[in-house]
Amino acid sequence: MGEAGGQTPSQADQKSFAERAKQTVTRRDFLIGAGAGAATAVVVLGGAAVATKAVSPSTTTTTTTAVGQGPLPATMRRVALNIDGVGRDLVVDNRESLWETMNFQLGLSNSNLGCDRAQCGACAVLVDGKAVNSCTVLSSRLGRGQKITTVAGLATGPGVAGLHPVQRAFWLDGGFQCGICTRGFIMSSVALLTAIPKPTDVQIAEGLAGNICRCGAYKKVFTSVQTAAAEMRGEKVTHLAAPVLAIVTATATAPTATGTSKEFTFATPFATIEDFDTFVEPLKKRDGIVNISGSERTITVTWDPGKLNEQQVRDLLASLGHAVR
Ligand code: FES
Ligand code: FES
Repeated sequence: MGEAGGQTPSQADQKSFAERAKQTVTRRDFLIGAGAGAATAVVVLGGAAVATKAVSPSTTTTTTTAVGQGPLPATMRRVALNIDGVGRDLVVDNRESLWETMNFQLGLSNSNLGCDRAQCGACAVLVDGKAVNSCTVLSSRLGRGQKITTVAGLATGPGVAGLHPVQRAFWLDGGFQCGICTRGFIMSSVALLTAIPKPTDVQIAEGLAGNICRCGAYKKVFTSVQTAAAEMRGEKVTHLAAPVLAIVTATATAPTATGTSKEFTFATPFATIEDFDTFVEPLKKRDGIVNISGSERTITVTWDPGKLNEQQVRDLLASLGHAVR
């Protein structure tokens, strides 16, 4: 059981949690809301205890500002999550899924939410190497040293050349259409190929049975998995988009030789990825900027250290209207 004791949230804390929860209404939110009464009160209480600032993924270990060391309501737990090698000290509601913790508390949008009921696999991450649905695993069960890996933790460097073989194969063999399911397929494929280095199509079908692609991109998903498997076995592979690989690899490896790279978190996230794309266009043309990538919440900048330093990059982003942490 968790640590008991009363902790009355301030009105400001309750307001903060309510605003955060409003950002996305999941099936769980709906059910909790429909339950009304005591259930809702408990969630608000728990939320107040965990209402906190978003944290920087670059931080080695992060402790939320409202965690404290005092007693918690019986519905809360203190956990130390290890996500992509970064320690995260948090207080979570007992009913909070790993997906909710990653997105609402940590601002990590590394897995997609599809069904929110363990049926589609879009939200899959690895826990100690096994693919699990993050929409269904409770964060309160994961604070005891388990190693959580998301799709963001697979790559070892920038660009296509730095991707995990499975990521690279999905990208260059077209194992996706809309991409909603892709992160889940990649994580399940990594788990599969770790266990079975040379799978048959039947074994791939079994290994990916928990993942659904509504676009029906299964044929190229299978191709991607077979290509990735071959590369992971050390074989020479040719991707369907091999010419693109040659071009992208050439441009992607250049920054590592001359650039300094860092991921920043936007103080205010963009509403859509299209807004992010528009924002970075002029940035790419600035002298000293070598490469830009990112999402609505984060931006990874590679710059020429002979022309810029980190503070100047931060100032540049702020001058364009989006300060970073
Ligand atoms: S969103 Fe988790 S399985 Fe569908
Ligand atoms: S690519 Fe669209 S759901 Fe799979």
